[in-house]
Amino acid sequence: MRSGEGGRARVESDPCAPAAGRDVASSCASRGGTGEARDAAILAAAHATLKANWREGRRRTGEHYAFTCPGPPRYRHLWHWDSCFHAIAWRHFDPARARAELRTVLRAGRSDGFLPHTVFWDSPARWRRAPLYATRRVRGDWMTATIGPPLLPFAWEIVAAASPDDPGFATEALAPLARHLDWLEHHRDPDGDGLLTIIAPDESGLDDSPKYDPVFGRLSHDRAGYFWLMERSRRLGWDSHAIIARHREHVEDVWVSVAYAMSCAALGRLRGEDPDGRYTTRAARTAAALVDRCWDERRGLFLDLAGPGERPVPVSTWTALTPLCLGELIPAALRTRLVEEHLLHPRRYAAPVGIPSVAMDEPAFRPGFDRWRAWRGPSWMNTAWLLVPHIAAAGHEAAARRIADRLAAAVLREGFREYYDPRHGGGLGVRGFGWSTLVTDLLLPG
Ligand code: GLC
Repeated sequence: MRSGEGGRARVESDPCAPAAGRDVASSCASRGGTGEARDAAILAAAHATLKANWREGRRRTGEHYAFTCPGPPRYRHLWHWDSCFHAIAWRHFDPARARAELRTVLRAGRSDGFLPHTVFWDSPARWRRAPLYATRRVRGDWMTATIGPPLLPFAWEIVAAASPDDPGFATEALAPLARHLDWLEHHRDPDGDGLLTIIAPDESGLDDSPKYDPVFGRLSHDRAGYFWLMERSRRLGWDSHAIIARHREHVEDVWVSVAYAMSCAALGRLRGEDPDGRYTTRAARTAAALVDRCWDERRGLFLDLAGPGERPVPVSTWTALTPLCLGELIPAALRTRLVEEHLLHPRRYAAPVGIPSVAMDEPAFRPGFDRWRAWRGPSWMNTAWLLVPHIAAAGHEAAARRIADRLAAAVLREGFREYYDPRHGGGLGVRGFGWSTLVTDLLLPG
């Protein structure tokens, strides 16, 4: 089970690895479905999937890029949080590629510290695709003007711990990583309370989550009004202060704030800060704001705050549980409630396979496949990767192991799919999906 920070020995490549792009299922069948054979098959297939999705080259402008696309051909660009997860998975097989991917994420940003949600490294999104993406100009651009869940410093620390061959990596980017977190503070925390605001639903990575329905309404990601949400933000130059002041559709987002606090804490450690250090203090301040402002004592969940009135959004999704990732910055009694009243509750999140993206007792829960709606119920690997270690840390090791084993069984059967049906583990969405290789971290000893 993953222990939190990296530092694990590299996994040697397996001579029986399936050919790139082939599903893990066929390779595993010949090796048996449990124990060491199972883990070896999954590891080999994970490495093959990451290799198949690897893209390296140079832009016309000369900049070098090296990253893993999430799931070609549908997802063939660089996505911020996907790349952070890919690098975390890559560190088991090839830490040099893990470092190259994180450096590419950083290189895509602006000198003021802004890092985009999506980067079109090989060719810019042109007019045909640009309206769908949050580009600065409707005729297209090399990147979006939106952010992704800010996990880069967090991933950087994990990859640095697995990089004894490149000891300088840990500190080579302290200044740009700090600029990035400062940009977020200046542009996405206009009321200065420590919680970050998103101005488009997909900035959290959860494009169509039902928790955004009451906030974005007809401007939601899965509705036609989304084009107008993009266009009116363009007209304000993607200036988040202006957008937040002018419009009602924005959210102080629990998960994005958690990711930010995780990254502030990681940067504090990379800088060797003492407990009063700038970023360490910022992480604690955001955690305190989550407890003061987002915690719903009756329901035992952390709820997003919507619009100028900061109304709590009453939908239970996995993100309401993510403050668990802040460990001791969140009071133990609250963490226990998240685990015992929600993650282990058979009618809420304790599904047969994985951790559903929406609580099973929510009216909006839709676990099956829908091309345009993927965050309304299915189980995703990155959510399990984030939450399962905290189930174990709360003293429920057997439950944590069960979730990991059932996800491994689903991967064995279905391959690395974009997401899985929580009722039976059926694979859904694209095949050969990059961050589903995080299952390796759930299997390897910490
Ligand atoms: C989808 C997901 C988003 C992910 C992207 C690339 O848009 O909702 O979270 O980053 O695909 O995989």
